[in-house]
Amino acid sequence: MADSRDSDSRAADTEARMSDDERFQLLRSELAIPWPGLPPPPAHWKISSGRVPGIPRLDIPDLAETDASLGIINPFGLREGDVATALPAGQALAATFNANLAHDSGVMLGAEARAKGFNVLLGGGLNLARDFYCGRNFEYLGEDPLLAGVLAGESVRGTQSQGVIATVKHYSLNVQETLRDTLDARIEDSAHRESDLLAFQIAIERGQPGAVMGAYNRINGEHASSNAHLLTTVLKQDWGYPGWVMSDRGAVHSVESFNCGLDQQSGAALDRQVWFDGPLREEVAAGRVSRARLSDAVRRILRSVYAAGADRPLKESAIDYAAHAQMAREIAAQGMVLLKNDGVLPLADAGAGPVLVVGGQAHLGVLAGYGSSMVTPVCGVAASIPVGAPSGFGVSSRQVYFASSPLEALRNALPYRQFSYDSGYFPQTTAARAAHASLVIVFATQWQGESMDADSLTLPQGQDALIAAITQANPNTLVVLQTGNPVRMPWLKQVRAVLQAWYPGQEGGAAIADVLSGRVNPSGRLPITFPLAESQAPRARAPGLGAPDGKSLTVNYFEGSDVGYRWYAKHGLRPLFAFGHGLSYTHFKHLGLKLAIEGSTLVARFEVENIGERLGADVPQLYLVEAAGQPVRRLVGFERVELQPGERRAVQMTIDARLLARWEGEGWSQHAGRYRCALGRSALRIGRRVGIVLPQRTLPPSRP
Ligand code: BGC
Repeated sequence: MADSRDSDSRAADTEARMSDDERFQLLRSELAIPWPGLPPPPAHWKISSGRVPGIPRLDIPDLAETDASLGIINPFGLREGDVATALPAGQALAATFNANLAHDSGVMLGAEARAKGFNVLLGGGLNLARDFYCGRNFEYLGEDPLLAGVLAGESVRGTQSQGVIATVKHYSLNVQETLRDTLDARIEDSAHRESDLLAFQIAIERGQPGAVMGAYNRINGEHASSNAHLLTTVLKQDWGYPGWVMSDRGAVHSVESFNCGLDQQSGAALDRQVWFDGPLREEVAAGRVSRARLSDAVRRILRSVYAAGADRPLKESAIDYAAHAQMAREIAAQGMVLLKNDGVLPLADAGAGPVLVVGGQAHLGVLAGYGSSMVTPVCGVAASIPVGAPSGFGVSSRQVYFASSPLEALRNALPYRQFSYDSGYFPQTTAARAAHASLVIVFATQWQGESMDADSLTLPQGQDALIAAITQANPNTLVVLQTGNPVRMPWLKQVRAVLQAWYPGQEGGAAIADVLSGRVNPSGRLPITFPLAESQAPRARAPGLGAPDGKSLTVNYFEGSDVGYRWYAKHGLRPLFAFGHGLSYTHFKHLGLKLAIEGSTLVARFEVENIGERLGADVPQLYLVEAAGQPVRRLVGFERVELQPGERRAVQMTIDARLLARWEGEGWSQHAGRYRCALGRSALRIGRRVGIVLPQRTLPPSRP
């Protein structure tokens, strides 16, 4: 933040020279997309999620916003012919446990945004995956606050290095899609601070995003956009956040939001009223909103523009799509999680007989998640099925397959094997064909998206029965999953391998073939627990599922900060696959874990060795397993370490003091006593425990 004072004083200086009309102009974004019932946006605006017209006399640029969680969006394909690099799901990025890759993907997104004429990127989704059914989990970064916070922060840092403002969203607890506008998420403040808020706090400290986007839902009774506790007390006061808070589209319900801490009304025409113009002017005139607060909101926007360099003139330019495709392939390949392998993989080491590929439209491409994050990919769209309901996007929702065919890629990777394809439409016929193959690869899919939650852990459309029929006919079967969430695997014992590929993006086909063939050694680790059954999870089903829009609903997040693997550890539950699980084609050893206090910081040191025959990457995970004498389970450190066969490397992890503490009253308290950590291969497979005695310590709410 070397130039932060500079940005602040520049912002104060510019704001002082503004007229009130100019000030109010910055406090709302306009829809930059034709919308039924609304006047069309100005013809010279590029169609996108939103725009804040600039003020040329003060060199304030237009703020040209684009959705961009997984790539630069072309909303409803309205910018004819405009494609962009479609990255894999956020879950895949999370599964890499690779902070450097997150940074580089942020750089890529920023560069592509700028080259297309955008300087505000509405990405950075990091709502914790509290529930296995949330329709947008695929966009987010898993269930752990450290993992999600670090990766989101790095991605933001990368994006802003390109002169593009980044956001983090949706602040906070937009953790299910069902009734997201009306849902009231209830949680204790301490539990919230230790979980979802901690993820935001870490991301904000690391990435210093120019803006934070509020959620749709209520939190403890107040809508996110008018939640003074979250926006003002926590974000701006406790954390000292200097940027601005924008709403989600259509999420502002009154002018009072401004005094609660919301700085900008997004897509203002979508709300019941354009609150942050006429009504806000009246509030200021009547003295109910202070002029200081008005200046504060404007300065926050301006300082973010200056801090990110978003006032550098935008000039559309060519994009190196070939280099960006490599990035998409790298994330997809690193993010794939090998869940099971009895030795059948990699295929390059296996037999040469005919292979039957079944289902998932694998002859065409790979599945994409649906909603405001869906990219029009460089590779083209192989199939786009207008499914209509059940999504809240109604008739516009489409099940899209990116044209990156795993079947083609497998043929290229293993040219000496004969591949054929069967849709799996008639399971008994498919099973009969499977009997004649030497190997069967089933592509199973679960489509997820914005506005719709999964109804269970079961793969939809009878795919379990298909897999069961195939394994009966041919036990030499493996399954590739493209799902937006965990699924049950009743056929797990009958298959030889399972690869979780998430929604793997525009290079997904090639990346799947990379991992199956052995060109890439898998190193992904699960960023979300795969339950054995719905009944293990805090909520077995999305509250309000199937209820009409507008119905009010309260969800009590009684698990508090025991999200995901912490819930399973606390209740002694064994999931199907634990958080952090993922296999490799080589083997690693963890040696010599030692804990030390340096200054007031806890530091862990150990070594990792590749004891197998192949180059590969391990992801040692450091878990806190005991805090002040109490059993706990918290990820306190992780790193992706790539090693040659026989290579050994020293690793050092510095532990964030908040992960050792609890939020009590007004700050973080680390209680005196014994603390023990262990290296894990997952949240369940924990190694030798190493202890240290820590003193009583109180930490402020802000960064320790
Ligand atoms: C989504 C946001 C998105 C916005 C603008 C909303 O529906 O929740 O994530 O940025 O639309 O497209």
